[in-house]
Amino acid sequence: MSTTKAIRRVRKAVFPVAGLGTRFLPATKAIPKELLPILDRPVLQWAVEEAREAGIEEFIFVTARGKEAIADHFDAFPALEEALATKGKDRLLGAVREATIAPGKAIYVRQDAPRGLGHAVACARAAVGNEPFALLLPDMLMHDEPGCMAGMMAHYEKVGGNVIAVEEVPRGDVHKYGVVALDAARADAMRIIGMVEKPAPENAPSTLIISGRYIFQPEIFAHLDATRPGAGGEIQITDAMQRGIEAGDPYHAWRYSGQTWDCGSKLGFLLANVAFGLRDPETADALRAYVHRHLCEKA
Ligand code: G1P
Repeated sequence: MSTTKAIRRVRKAVFPVAGLGTRFLPATKAIPKELLPILDRPVLQWAVEEAREAGIEEFIFVTARGKEAIADHFDAFPALEEALATKGKDRLLGAVREATIAPGKAIYVRQDAPRGLGHAVACARAAVGNEPFALLLPDMLMHDEPGCMAGMMAHYEKVGGNVIAVEEVPRGDVHKYGVVALDAARADAMRIIGMVEKPAPENAPSTLIISGRYIFQPEIFAHLDATRPGAGGEIQITDAMQRGIEAGDPYHAWRYSGQTWDCGSKLGFLLANVAFGLRDPETADALRAYVHRHLCEKA
């Protein structure tokens, strides 16, 4: 008889969207930062599409007061669809429908106060239940084909356990992220043996950072319960994962090699818009000409 645990399918994804977006004030006074557009869709919709491509069926948003427009965005809008259909605007109609999450498949839970990413994930506990789930941080816009979560899911189907997307950054940047330590003896297997949130460069165990995409087993909730505030006085998901590692839970790193933009920063947001604009047939040529002209004038 085999003692191997069956690998359970991941059907649900959690999106923490309760942040205040202070870095984008005053733009985010009335509009959730997650609805600011990268090209023609909100930054959050890109993450939802990435999850959907990976086979996710239920979308759990950890939200807060003032973020009601997020639920409106993913809701069906029959009057708008009818108006577009009547005018024969099929492309726009398709785009509006793509932004809709099927009835009953979007769940909104509230985080009462900004107490950290770990606390936000813990708020999703009842909605997730006792099954594995994905976690996507929508500020991190990731572009690859197939998408980051689809790649992680394929890996998860082989190895099970918890899977964390990691990427290499210059040592000077590690203090902004969670950083993992790999089992040196089995580095090819990418087994994670430790992790630390926002370390000083000289204390970082590696230059492999946690990218903002995770697949968790439900045991993470028990570890979150036991996790006290850490870096920045907040309850950190990284600390809960470290507890899991110490308890013997399997954690696998999955190396992401596509592009990433941190859209929680002004520069990342602008760069993502330029990159996506350069890929879009409607804007690519004019944008390239503008950027080129601007750079040549400055040179
Ligand atoms: C969070 C995580 C961190 C991860 C980062 C990716 O940090 O705590 O481990 O590397 O996202 O963006 P935050 O950006 O919320 O400070």
